[in-house]
Amino acid sequence: MAKIGTDIKYVRDLLIGSELAGIPTETVYGLAANALDPIAVAKIFKVKERPTFDPLIVHVSGLDQAEKFVREIPEKAQILANTFWPGPLTLIFNKKEIIPDIVTSGLDTVAVRVPNHALTLELLKNIDFPLAAPSANPFGYVSPTSAKHVEEQLGDKIKYVLDGGLCSVGIESTILGFDGDDVVVYRLGGCKVEDIEGLIGEIKVKANSSSNPVAPGMLESHYAPLTPIIIGNIRELVGKHKHQKIGLISFKDEINELDLDHQFILSEKGDIDEAATRLFTGLRELDALNLQLIVSEYVPDVGLGRAINDRLKRAEVKRN
Ligand code: TXA
Ligand code: MG
Repeated sequence: MAKIGTDIKYVRDLLIGSELAGIPTETVYGLAANALDPIAVAKIFKVKERPTFDPLIVHVSGLDQAEKFVREIPEKAQILANTFWPGPLTLIFNKKEIIPDIVTSGLDTVAVRVPNHALTLELLKNIDFPLAAPSANPFGYVSPTSAKHVEEQLGDKIKYVLDGGLCSVGIESTILGFDGDDVVVYRLGGCKVEDIEGLIGEIKVKANSSSNPVAPGMLESHYAPLTPIIIGNIRELVGKHKHQKIGLISFKDEINELDLDHQFILSEKGDIDEAATRLFTGLRELDALNLQLIVSEYVPDVGLGRAINDRLKRAEVKRN
């Protein structure tokens, strides 16, 4: 089984030796390899059972390091990076040759971000290469938000998980691309659309499209627990499926009709950011209970609520 700890030097040695390691970020845990080492990157796809047409995000220590790997940085990207990096925002740029094709699934573009986590930033400062890292979960399953989550699912395939505690954002990064003057959201995530628009004006949201050719990996059927999940009016759905063993995820209210053990409240005080940090833990906890069905409701569709609702929607598509 993988060891869990805070030994940055050991992780550095693993990565230099073309091995993988679990790393914390503020969004979700990543499964990292030297992004410039195609042999190491190939191991990511193998361990995750991820199709090679689904490109990876390259993690760097700052905008200056990003400049080594991308052709040009559009002005709006510069503004966004200066404001939100380190943070839960991934930007897509035209790539330089030095980034191996396996990282980008043969695309001419590369996705880049600076993660906002002290341990991983320290790691990045101690290595002279960037880190390719998808979320550290088997392909299609819910992303991990603790070192334990990584160990539970990939522990027999990797040697070490760098333990940075619980992820403070809890939902994957927002992915933005630049199409001429347009800025396009390819995945809703931890950086709020409202905050981005406050800075650079209106942007287009293309997330949720399963046929988006620019983002081959952004299939609708992602982020799903193994138990079927349906989303809607909780009381109606529970009534309709009352003969089944049901687990419930609610935004802020306790629902009295149900056995309490099977309820997961995202945020008792109705705080959407807190709900985001708890969503994947809730899905995992209920998934471990051998239920027949998970019933959930959407959260208010503002701020991180948009990303939460996007993940719920995708989880529902997958298993029904
Ligand atoms: O928060 C995050 O972004 C986490 C942490 C570990 O940084 N990473 C993450 O990686 O969620 P992953 O591999 O699970 O999701 C990355 C997404 C994929 O859906 C992929 O298709 C998209 O980024 N992507 C990567 N490179 C791309 C590119 N050049 N163009 C369009 N989409 C790209
Ligand atoms: Mg993922």
